Amino acid sequence: MSRPGSARDVALDTLRAVDAREAFLQQALESAAQKAGLDPRDRGLALELTSGVLRQQRRLDHRLAPLLRRGLEATAPAVLNVLRLAAYQLGFMDRVPARAAVHEAVVQARMVAGEGGARLVNAVLRALPQTPETLPEGETPEAVGVRLSHPDWLAALAIDRLGPAEAEALLAAHNRPAPLTVRAPGDPAATAARLTAEGATLTPCAFAPGAWHLEHRAPFATAAFAEGLFRVQDEAAQLVVHLLAPQPGDRLWDACAAPGGKSQHIVDLAHAAGRLALLSTDAHPGKVRRLAETLGRVTGLETAVHDAGEPLERTFDRVLLDAPCSGLGTLRRHPEIRWRRTPESVAELAAAQAVMIRRCADTVRPGGTLVYSVCTLTEAEGPAIVEAFLRDRPEFALDLPSPGEGGIDWGPLLGPLGIFTWPHRHDMDGFFATRLRRKA
Ligand SMILES: C[S@@+](CC[C@H](N)C(=O)[O-])C[C@H]1O[C@@H](n2cnc3c(N)ncnc32)[C@H](O)[C@@H]1O
Repeated sequence: MSRPGSARDVALDTLRAVDAREAFLQQALESAAQKAGLDPRDRGLALELTSGVLRQQRRLDHRLAPLLRRGLEATAPAVLNVLRLAAYQLGFMDRVPARAAVHEAVVQARMVAGEGGARLVNAVLRALPQTPETLPEGETPEAVGVRLSHPDWLAALAIDRLGPAEAEALLAAHNRPAPLTVRAPGDPAATAARLTAEGATLTPCAFAPGAWHLEHRAPFATAAFAEGLFRVQDEAAQLVVHLLAPQPGDRLWDACAAPGGKSQHIVDLAHAAGRLALLSTDAHPGKVRRLAETLGRVTGLETAVHDAGEPLERTFDRVLLDAPCSGLGTLRRHPEIRWRRTPESVAELAAAQAVMIRRCADTVRPGGTLVYSVCTLTEAEGPAIVEAFLRDRPEFALDLPSPGEGGIDWGPLLGPLGIFTWPHRHDMDGFFATRLRRKA
């Protein structure tokens, strides 16, 4: 139920679909916005509202709970989302007049839950400004989790890895939007000049060569984008391809390739060098179809459906296993993931990764290279996978980059088993990536 052209109704519809696990945030928003015929500006508002509510969900619930006589659990999910949306606007957005937010929330509550719902929402939102927000103090996972709106287990994991102060910095970074990071496949200097002429501000990234943070009112409406002069790719994802360091003439395999960001990067690098032999596979046929469309017809590129947990009777010079993972390094872009993952799902993913790394390793020729990467911050899916692999496959050894390899300052990213990138330290997605060499 939504009024045509209403950003707040689209936001409410989107939150319902995300809660029901019908889709991830971006897809759910895209489909609700299309149905409602939302214009680009209102799409921006709907994205801000939904990302904001999903980021701050636990903190908003903590604020609303004392005002709900029957408690959060007994409140209908649709009404709770109306309240979260309004509480987010009142607490976190300066430019929305309070009266408009409350009025809209009451109208929405009437739409989803009748007069009773409207009365409840009206009463709670009128009481809200009179009730100061009381946040728990201290360094326990629960206190940190409420203050920075993460589940306890994830707050505990961050505290365990980084200590309480730095964990708070990481969780706070998760609650801020990610920058738009791009690279230019052709002539970077010419692209930079074109983008600047179109009103963009470009800031070179600190690590990946040729990566910029791009600021523009509507970057995807620029002529430079329409002409394919730049591609969007987070800096950490770019670094994974630099770690793979494909050389002209290499036989390459990208084992978990969809949607194709890293394969595209490999193709772009090989184009510049003039030779490509790349197999890009994914387990899901629909994703492989879209991957083939994205990459287009390129000499030397092969796409196929393949389960990376199964043997492949081929050998390669370089293999990239960008494994399916819990994605907890991408919470700035995908705020809903924090409410979906559980310690159990992390353990399941880690078990699958342990099989995949072995199957992929089997295809690496002596002297060849395997890059393993995950966009997450759990030890179980990163260093622990590599440590166990190296224990039972002595024909492989770590091959970490020297600090200046490829003109990249790897030093600050290097740990004992690979590189780590962090949103709060480096303003990029959280990745673990490592390079292994099969002894000749
Ligand atoms: C982290 S994403 C890869 C992102 C991609 N490398 C890129 O840069 O765009 C992981 C991918 O693994 C795929 N996948 C999941 N299980 C798989 C399996 N058993 N074998 C191969 N691919 C799998 C998923 O479909 C997903 O597209």
